Amino acid sequence: MLKLENLTVQFGGLIAVNDVTTEVPKGSIFGLIGPNGAGKTTCFNLITGVCKPTGGKVILNGKEIQGLPPYKVNELGIARTYQNINLFKKMTVIENVMVGCHTKTTSGLAAAIFRNKKQREEEKAVILKCMEILKFMDLAEKADYKASNLSYGEQRRLEISRALASDPELLLLDEPAAGMNGREKEELTETIKKISQKGITVLLVEHDMKLVMSVTNIICVLNFGKKIAFGNPEYIQNNEEVIAAYLGGGLDV
Ligand SMILES: Nc1ncnc2c1ncn2[C@@H]1O[C@H](COP(=O)(O)OP(=O)(O)O)[C@@H](O)[C@H]1O
Ligand SMILES: [Mg+2]
Repeated sequence: MLKLENLTVQFGGLIAVNDVTTEVPKGSIFGLIGPNGAGKTTCFNLITGVCKPTGGKVILNGKEIQGLPPYKVNELGIARTYQNINLFKKMTVIENVMVGCHTKTTSGLAAAIFRNKKQREEEKAVILKCMEILKFMDLAEKADYKASNLSYGEQRRLEISRALASDPELLLLDEPAAGMNGREKEELTETIKKISQKGITVLLVEHDMKLVMSVTNIICVLNFGKKIAFGNPEYIQNNEEVIAAYLGGGLDV
């Protein structure tokens, strides 16, 4: 579904992503792991159009998408969450999810000004859809809370809710378990599986190895921007180069 071909980006003297070639199969839960600074978030930025590659291609369903602006990439079916939580803190929970729907509404500017019947109906449908997503993410009771009043784990779930609102085919999660307690991590594991069962392909960057190993079916390992290993979780856990890359950091499963 998604192919990275010799993907490369250089920032000044630093090659943050170095000639990475890999393929994310449709329907997979694909893990992208590696020590801090390995280039994982930069890969997400290259895929989602936040930054432009200096070389190589990003191919979605056979179409080259590298260099397209983020909103275009989103329209093509890729949504993401951010390593640093990126919510509208003063808006309510449901308003944050509604922001994620914006690419799907059809009424134009004139309709927005005159609030015609079509637009009111569209808004109702959007609210219903967002409530469904909040139910799915176990946040429905907090729909009218301000985003800033949610716990850290809830804010991470809200980020996922907003990403789901654009009906993605491919969902990119950047360290979704960061700051979560043990129980929240277990719930997140189940949530990721449920998202996958909806038919959404998941690309997961995550440091919690227990979570990665229990939820992914295929893993790509980066180190200093380069792909050093690719395979199923069992293979990755026993791969010497991977263990060496994590030495000091620890590959705690
Ligand atoms: N916009 C940027 N400008 C300059 N350097 C960057 C930029 N984005 C990332 N980097 C650098 O690229 C390297 C990879 O970063 P990142 O992709 O965030 O790593 P990871 O997510 O694997 O921890 C780091 O050395 C980081 O400092
Ligand atoms: Mg990162």
